Amino acid sequence: MRRAGRPAGPAPARPQRGLWPWPRRSEAASLLAVERMAIEQTLLIIKPDAVARGAVGQIIGRLEAEGFALRQLRLVRLGRDEAERFYAVHRDRPFFAGLIQFMTSGPAIPMLLEREDAVAHLRRFIGVTDSARAGAGTIRGDFGTDVQRNAVHASDCPENAGREAVFFFGAQAG
Ligand code: RTP
Ligand code: MG
Repeated sequence: MRRAGRPAGPAPARPQRGLWPWPRRSEAASLLAVERMAIEQTLLIIKPDAVARGAVGQIIGRLEAEGFALRQLRLVRLGRDEAERFYAVHRDRPFFAGLIQFMTSGPAIPMLLEREDAVAHLRRFIGVTDSARAGAGTIRGDFGTDVQRNAVHASDCPENAGREAVFFFGAQAG
């Protein structure tokens, strides 16, 4: 015998409480993705090889077309001490002396760029370190020559982006 109370048939919908309307799973995922895509700044240097070959305008044009906003820019000639400090993490690597020679060989152009997810996006956009292996359409693939003369530097993580921004732009960074 059925107990008195709820009539037979499907259970009634629960009353909606709290956060309503609760986002569907797909909506929740895209909300989280937007949250993760924070506006960031990152540092790019047009290296002496790309400045010497007259590619500055084309490189900046590509960056702007990709949605990077230019926040700071300088033309510098790095001294040995500055180049060694900037690339100090590579001090013990066999390519360090060649890298310092290259980076001090002519003018370079550091700039501060801003965009959603700027650090990771720029690293993908410039291509891998070795220009001979970087894909066509990437900055390193199109404007660099080899593993050393690779047209541009880009910060590899947000912490280094902040440190490198201060290195070139001091109090004007951020
Ligand atoms: P970057 O710091 O300039 O953005 O380059 P990256 O992260 O892609 O590569 P990293 O390992 O940090 O190397 C710094 C720069 O050193 C020169 N290099 N030469 N001869 C070699 O084997 C060699 N390997 C690296 C490149 O100029 C590289 O960008
Ligand atoms: Mg690096």
